[in-house]
This record gives sequence, structure tokens and C-alpha cells, in this order.
Amino acid sequence: MQKGQYNIDLVTEKEKIKSLDKKKSTSGETNKEESKMSEIPEDILDPFCDPKNPQKISFHDVTSAAFLIKEGIERTPCPRSTTSDSYGMDLYLKKDFLQYTGSFKERGARYALLSMSSEQKQAGVISASAGNHAQALSYHGWKLNIPITVVMPKTAPIMKIQKCRNYNATVIIEGRDMAEAKAMALKISQEKQLLYINGYDHPQIIAGQGTIGLEILEQVSNPDAIIIPVGGGGLIAGIATVIKALSPKTKIIGVESEKCPSFSRAIENKGPIYTPIKNTLADGLAVPKVGYNAFITALPLIDKMVVVREEWIALAILRLVEEEKCVVEGAGASGLAAILAGQLNELKGKKVVCLLCGGNIDTTVFGRCLERGLAAEGRLVKFVAEVSDRPGGIQELCEILSSLGVSIKDIMHERAWLRDIYTVEVKVVCETRDWEHSMQLKNNLKKHYQKVQFSELPLAINADVWLSGRK
Ligand SMILES: Cc1ncc(COP(=O)(O)O)c(C=O)c1O
Repeated sequence: MQKGQYNIDLVTEKEKIKSLDKKKSTSGETNKEESKMSEIPEDILDPFCDPKNPQKISFHDVTSAAFLIKEGIERTPCPRSTTSDSYGMDLYLKKDFLQYTGSFKERGARYALLSMSSEQKQAGVISASAGNHAQALSYHGWKLNIPITVVMPKTAPIMKIQKCRNYNATVIIEGRDMAEAKAMALKISQEKQLLYINGYDHPQIIAGQGTIGLEILEQVSNPDAIIIPVGGGGLIAGIATVIKALSPKTKIIGVESEKCPSFSRAIENKGPIYTPIKNTLADGLAVPKVGYNAFITALPLIDKMVVVREEWIALAILRLVEEEKCVVEGAGASGLAAILAGQLNELKGKKVVCLLCGGNIDTTVFGRCLERGLAAEGRLVKFVAEVSDRPGGIQELCEILSSLGVSIKDIMHERAWLRDIYTVEVKVVCETRDWEHSMQLKNNLKKHYQKVQFSELPLAINADVWLSGRK
């Protein structure tokens, strides 16, 4: 690993958190949790991720990782997508969500654990994570007999917390977000002499994730491009290091959600910078500030960064279930989302590998994603119609829907706010075969009712083409 330098505008996470806290305290919004967090010193530095001495990961680091972890990690498949032709690409899907704990994070976690001294292995390690890194570390720590402590923020999904406990890790639930959980984990690491392993910026974590790149090149010859989801930047940094060393013509494309574009902001800023994040379907990518080692390694190797809208991520999750029979979480589906959104049209006709890197999605979130995906594609439609309040009025509406083969998901009616006391407003959510079927429904209802209003045009439909009456 080499030391490197770049121009960093140091707006640190901590400064930002401080200013947010100040805003809250002036608004009188304080609680027990905040006073507890304020006891955590703010200047604990992770010695492996030093902003002033960032480390560049080398090809040699990744091959060392590949050698060391080959026993404990799955070599995941990378088949051609069954719907490759519909995207106009020769598309391959690297299914790293098929690792035991459901994500690629095991690669880096196992390598970091195996690289420790025997004293450190005995003492154990600590990390902060909302999910995939915590599970990977807990599982491999358990298998290698290394005590693991993970600090998870209060927002971490219950399923992921429980999984870590099942893998015998000590789980501490602390902090309102990842930044606070991390501060707590660093404090405990100092007090208890535990090694802190950052999930996206520890050099061995980055090297371990890079082993995916070696596998891809063995499985798909001469790919034109590889699409990689980006959170803290460790995954793309590791893979890009391998790909640019062995196949320099292959384009490296990073994808972020619009709700947490911290790598794109870091590029603009010429260094990692705190980027406020919002709730996202791609919770694995929700890192407010990318890693210093990851950034300096990945920056010169990335050919393009794409920021996708959340609806496309929902649609990608739906497509992967329906077409590929893969359950993939939002972060893992964001590469396909960028293709669906038409943001990578220059790859048409090319051989492309899309990384599906995680499958840990909450069942409730999964359900909501499928619904949003259906809505984005125009297959789940919502409309309001004013129908006669006389006996048989609502029945007539149901008969129209039934005759068209439209399935009602939800129906509700109200009268109190209508001017005409002989009408009733009916709100319907229904499922259609496709957008064309939805249009048929719309035209039919317009013929029958004076007042009928549909929810807006679905995202996945080219509005100009539809509005001009052509398909
Ligand atoms: C499923 C999934 N994909 C992608 C990423 C992004 O990896 P990185 O933070 O190394 O950029 C993560 C990070 O947790 C993840 O869980």
C-alpha cells in the first residue's frame, strides 16, 4: 500500500454533526441520547484511515487477499442475464449477494481478520455498521474464533441486529446514525484495546473487496464495462485496482443513489466531504463521507459516476425478482437501476458486468419496493372517480374494471365533501398488465364518468412519446 496525498477541504463529519446539534439545542430539541453521545470525545482517529496520510491500495494487496481468503469465501456465479437482449447489452450479473451472509462484505472482513496478529486476534475487534459489514465481521469472527463487537445505530434493521447476535457477536445499539455509532465504536476500541475495522476504508477491507474483480475477469472475458454501487467507496476502489491493472480498457462505472451522492460530492470537492444523506432504499450506500483511502485509490481509476433516482432502484429490485429470480437489496440493485434509467445508454451493444452485491433486504421494505417498482412501471395505478351514489353505482365501476381484467388492490369511498349529494368519490388502487393496459382503463373510465383523475405518469414511461399518442 502506498501513501498518497490530495487536496482536502476538511469539512469534517464531526464539525457538521456539531453544527446540526447546535441547531437542535437552540430549538430546545435535546434528549438523553444526545447528552450521552456528547460525552464521546471527538478527536479519536482511526490510524488506518488517516486523512493526512491516505493509503493507495495496490494490485499486489488484492492478490494477497485473494490467496488468503480463497477457503472461506464463495466464488459467486456471473451468468449472462436472462433479459440481456431487452437492455440491448451483453449483460452479465455478478451475484455476490450469494455469499453466506448475503453480501460481498465478507471478502474484506475475512481478509482483515486473517491478517491480524495473534495477540490482536485474542483481544478481538470492533466496528460500527448498520448491516452488511457487521454481519460479515460477526460471521467470520465466529468462524475464526475472534471476538467481535459491533456498534449498530438505532436505525439498523432488527433482522440484521439479530443476525449478528446469532453469529455470537457482542452487539451494542448506540447512536442516532452511523456517525454516532462510529464515534462510540472508536471510543470503546481505545478503552478496551480492540482493533477498529472500518467497513469501507480499512486498507485490508478494500483489498478484500477487490477480489471480486479477479473473479469477474476469470468469468467474463474482456468486459467493456463494470458497473459498481458506491457507498463509502471501498468496493469500487478494490475492484477498480484489479481491473485497471489487468484490463485497462474496461470502463469502471460507479453508481450512487440521489439520496446519498457522497462520492460525486467528493469528486467535486477534490476530497471526501460530509454530504447529508436522506432515507434511501439503498441503505448500504448511505455513507455521509467516503473513505480517504478508498477515495485516493478509486479516483484516478473511475471512468464515470452516475447518480440514480430512487424509483429506478425500486424498479430494478422488481425486475431482478421477476426476471432473474434474485432477491437483491436496494444498494445491490442500483447498477441495474442506472441501466433502466437510460443513464448508461452508451453501453448498448457492449459487454457489461453489473454487480449485484447484496441481498439483505427487510421483508417489509421489500414489499414496499415491489409496489413502488410496479407504480414506476405503470402497472400499479391509482385513480379517483366520482360515481353515482344510487344503488349499483360502485358495482358498475367494479364491473368495468373486471371486464378489462384489472385487479383491485384497494378501494375506498367518501361523500361528505362532494357538492353533488347524489355522487360518491371512489379512490381505487389497482393492478394492470402494463402501461398500455392502464391507458385502456383510463380511456374507458373517461367515457363512463365525467370526473376521473389518474395519478401522474409513471416514471418508466417516456412521457413525450405517450402524450403524442404514439408508442
Ligand atoms: C449491498 C452493498 N452494496 C454496495 C455497498 C457499497 O460499498 P462501499 O461502502 O465499499 O462503497 C455496500 C456497503 O455497505 C453494500 O452493503
